[in-house]
Amino acid sequence: MASNSFQPIQGMSDIAPPDVYIWQMLEARAREVFARYRFEEVRTPVLEKTSLFTHSLGDTTDVVTKEMYRLQDRGGRDLSLRPEGTAGSVRYIASGGEETANARIYYIGPMFRCERPQAGRKRQFHQIGLEAAGAPNPLADAEVIALQINLLSAWGLEGAKIRLNTIGLPEEREAVLEGLREAIRPRLAELPEDAQQRFETNVLRLLDSKDPAVQAVIADAPSVTELLSAESRAYLDTVVETLRGLEIDVEIDTSLVRGLDYYVHTVWEVVHGGLGAQNALSGGGRYRIQIDNKTIDGVGFAMGVERMIAALEASGVTADQFPPKPAVFIASLGEAALKENLLLMQTLRQRGVACEMELTNRKIKAQMKRANKIGAATVIIRGDSELENGTFVVKNMGEGTQQELELPELMDLMGKGGG
Ligand code: HAM
Repeated sequence: MASNSFQPIQGMSDIAPPDVYIWQMLEARAREVFARYRFEEVRTPVLEKTSLFTHSLGDTTDVVTKEMYRLQDRGGRDLSLRPEGTAGSVRYIASGGEETANARIYYIGPMFRCERPQAGRKRQFHQIGLEAAGAPNPLADAEVIALQINLLSAWGLEGAKIRLNTIGLPEEREAVLEGLREAIRPRLAELPEDAQQRFETNVLRLLDSKDPAVQAVIADAPSVTELLSAESRAYLDTVVETLRGLEIDVEIDTSLVRGLDYYVHTVWEVVHGGLGAQNALSGGGRYRIQIDNKTIDGVGFAMGVERMIAALEASGVTADQFPPKPAVFIASLGEAALKENLLLMQTLRQRGVACEMELTNRKIKAQMKRANKIGAATVIIRGDSELENGTFVVKNMGEGTQQELELPELMDLMGKGGG
């Protein structure tokens, strides 16, 4: 794609009207749902020490090895733009001691991954996510999944599916990895080179590979669930049963492993048919992250806002369905009216009415054109004769009607929503 000085850099976008209205709707409804579940917003910096991400996400993960925007600041510090929101949230939780031990926090903001841009993959994308700190408890996992279902319906999305799995505990991770390696090793030569490397560094990631050669080998290997302890399997069963009790259906997908290393026990993704190959609307799970000498347990998820909007659009929910409240336009005929109207506009705005007026003395036709362009529901017109009579011509743009009102009547009408 040709680029010029007016465009943002590749993989990043300006989010402007009218598109921004659907963003505002998603954010406002998310805040309402989060408040009902007693989550509070925390805004962490977008720039953090690189070591925070390498330690918590895992230093062999794709996100850390290939996708971070990593830079050195003027003091030579190794910093990265956050590729996701969990690490910063957990750093915040760890910083607070007792105060934040059971924090329930949410975040809304940009994340950065220097991936190859394609449909569904941006370099600056946005997440609406949350984290609930606290010791592993299947009921806590179920509560967060239930919240997510509530959020999807508050946003008006239908047809999303939750795929759920467990990856067990860190102490059994080695046994699981070894079990998988043992099953795959005899057929290692059948795997492509990069998969052979994965076999050594992160064998779990072979499970969700889309490469048919890898899939053929994996098909004969045991699933992670089969290699886990009875305790871990029971944990997953309790999550599923609890969700059933809440009338929430989930699909167990034993190939689901997720791309970050901090997960323990429950992991899940929300997928939607309206998206292409990048069909994950959201990723989540329970995790255990060590920062210095502190271990933080928690559970959470992050929704990708761009993908959410694509899924909504595929189901007929679009930005133009969420326009801002229509404004009042004030038209002035002559210098004297223009000055008086400035005061009128000030008064209306102080009373909560959105309004706009032309600040130069232009022809009424040009002013009405502008009123139409901004979709004004009401136009207030004042010229010399109205000033003299103390009246206002009020035009209802929807109905095409017009009336002459005095100030108290005008204020009354404005108080009822502008006309
Ligand atoms: P994640 O699966 O890496 O998980 O990302 C979550 C969601 O962010 C994805 O499902 C997707 O919708 C969106 N996303 C990721 N990368 C891109 C991209 N390049 N372009 C557009 N959208 C993207 C996490 O980030 C974890 N921190 C989630 C979590 C929170 N787990 C526990 N708590």
